[in-house]
Amino acid sequence: MKSQLRGKHLLSTADWSNEEIETLLLTAERLKLDNTLGTYHDHICRAQSIFMLFFEESTRTRNAFECGITQLGGHGNYLTPKSTQVDHGETPKDTIDVLGRMGHGIGIRNTLVDGNKWMQAVAKHSNIPVYNMQCDIWHPTQALADLLTIREKFGRDLRGKKFVISWTSAGNYMRPLSMANNLVELMTRTGMDVTLAHPEKFDLLPVALEAARKNAEMSGSKFEIVHDMDEACKDADIIYAKGWGPIMTVGDDEVAGVKMIEENPGWIVDSRRMALGKPGAIYMHCMPADRDIEVTSEVMDGPQSAIYDEAENRLHTIKALMALTMGNVNGKN
Ligand code: CP
Repeated sequence: MKSQLRGKHLLSTADWSNEEIETLLLTAERLKLDNTLGTYHDHICRAQSIFMLFFEESTRTRNAFECGITQLGGHGNYLTPKSTQVDHGETPKDTIDVLGRMGHGIGIRNTLVDGNKWMQAVAKHSNIPVYNMQCDIWHPTQALADLLTIREKFGRDLRGKKFVISWTSAGNYMRPLSMANNLVELMTRTGMDVTLAHPEKFDLLPVALEAARKNAEMSGSKFEIVHDMDEACKDADIIYAKGWGPIMTVGDDEVAGVKMIEENPGWIVDSRRMALGKPGAIYMHCMPADRDIEVTSEVMDGPQSAIYDEAENRLHTIKALMALTMGNVNGKN
């Protein structure tokens, strides 16, 4: 167990070793069980503040951080560019040089084109841990909650399980690649065989695909890419399906991207596709999901759906993250 994580940033799960991730997941399991038994942990981050800077809206991430820090004895400051001087162009360095003198951690959601660069600039100058609450490349706190959920359903030894991350025909706008990027990076480290399914020209970022190939080799598992959703779902243990834009093909051209999404209808999880998986297969989605577009309500509300467990596990994994990296742990305060 890697217990000395105080001060560590989480910009990407790729920056955390398997041992560090194991520590976080074990801590989350412990905090969750204690929560169930009514044991309080409000000494861990007592009198501490976390800044939560959201460039975009959020239901799960914001409330997992805010409820989590309350349960750990601290306070969450909800910030947006408009409620701060960020909107007037105050730099990442000046912002964190000031906030770092007041609080104990900062989370940032910025899925804009340069979102990752913006948080990297904050991290470079920060004396407090910086958490990626989702950017254009990664969504680490979601992926960690997903892994905790899979372990709860299938046990800690996941070798040989088949994990599918599939694209869906979610239209209206181009969703970021960060969720799928992060899932292929993290799940290939667990020994699960990972299948990525999407139409042609909806590729993920090279940094994620390279990591997935390397991680699969290291863990002795398989990583494959297919362009057929039925083929992907066959014999799956976990079917995780959500949409993203063809950003690698059209860049930030929203009109061209939405047109390409509309040209690929029918990528939806329904009961027929769930039946292609193994008996006991589960359905996952980070939410918000487009009901009856990405997934039928029958599957979303059905017995194979793990979506609300995933959402709850955002709280427990984020609490573990703050406790280990911000908190008054290891006898330090
Ligand atoms: N899954 C997720 O990040 O949800 P929010 O956008 O509501 O935070």
